[in-house]
Amino acid sequence: MMPTPSPSPSAHVPPPWLCELPKKDPWSTPFAECLLKHLDVQPGHAILDVCCGDGIPAFYLAHQVGSAGRVVGVDMNHAQLIRSRAVQGLAFPWLAFHHGDVRELPRHLGQFDRITGNLSFMFFRPNRQDALRQIIQFLKPGGQLVLTFPSQGTFDSLWQCVDREMLTRGFTRERERFMAYLAERPSAQDAHRWLEACGMVRVEVAEYPLEVQTNPGHEFLYHPLLRGGFLDDVYECFADQEVAERFMEDIADAVPGFLPLLANRCVMAAWLPGNESGEIARPRESP
Ligand SMILES: C[S@@+](CC[C@H](N)C(=O)[O-])C[C@H]1O[C@@H](n2cnc3c(N)ncnc32)[C@H](O)[C@@H]1O
Repeated sequence: MMPTPSPSPSAHVPPPWLCELPKKDPWSTPFAECLLKHLDVQPGHAILDVCCGDGIPAFYLAHQVGSAGRVVGVDMNHAQLIRSRAVQGLAFPWLAFHHGDVRELPRHLGQFDRITGNLSFMFFRPNRQDALRQIIQFLKPGGQLVLTFPSQGTFDSLWQCVDREMLTRGFTRERERFMAYLAERPSAQDAHRWLEACGMVRVEVAEYPLEVQTNPGHEFLYHPLLRGGFLDDVYECFADQEVAERFMEDIADAVPGFLPLLANRCVMAAWLPGNESGEIARPRESP
């Protein structure tokens, strides 16, 4: 999450922290670091950052492309956009935040050299290939797309514990819903296949492990990375939320049995074939 801004005497000059990824963010920043390993970004580029949230990595990219470029961040959450614009203030006039659903963005946004989306691809549901096709239409010929998401395998040790407990306690309906949730998560292989099916070339899909630290009990149940996302998906499998609460308290006590808790930071990167002049942008060498 972006730090809260403090008033600046020269508001149009971005503070140094706005030009970097937030240092203390334990989730978005580690994913964005992986995204940037695969992204070829140059001064002057036009970049569309989908599911931009509060501006990771839109602010960093705005600094990289400079005033000759442009960055458009889109998100469907109005509150996020208000926050991003407040953080931006007068900095980076070539960066704009727009409201929009990644699955049906308006054509007037124009064409972009690059499309990025940190922690985004899991929201391209229900038809991820279709949603990919939609955003690729915003890419210029020879342009690059780089998205990240927590791929299948993320927190598997936790999910195995949840599954065992549901089975032991005879939570049949809940377990069916839980299985459907697990099956719906995209894998790295899915991402590769869908990118190729969309006509993208030089497809690279890579996974980088990330260990999430937690202690049992309350710290696990209200962990900022797990609650408001992953754990809520388990709660939603229960019709009775009091039963869910008791079940999850037991899971929280069992934490030592499913450590380490590992996420897969999946990066899916690919290029749209160049135009007829054969002009194809080249990817940056891997660091
Ligand atoms: C996990 S956050 C990531 C935000 C930011 N990119 C980051 O790395 O911190 C996902 C964001 O995607 C947005 N989002 C979810 N579904 C979306 C959709 N269909 N269209 C546009 N934005 C969406 C949410 O509002 C949220 O801000």
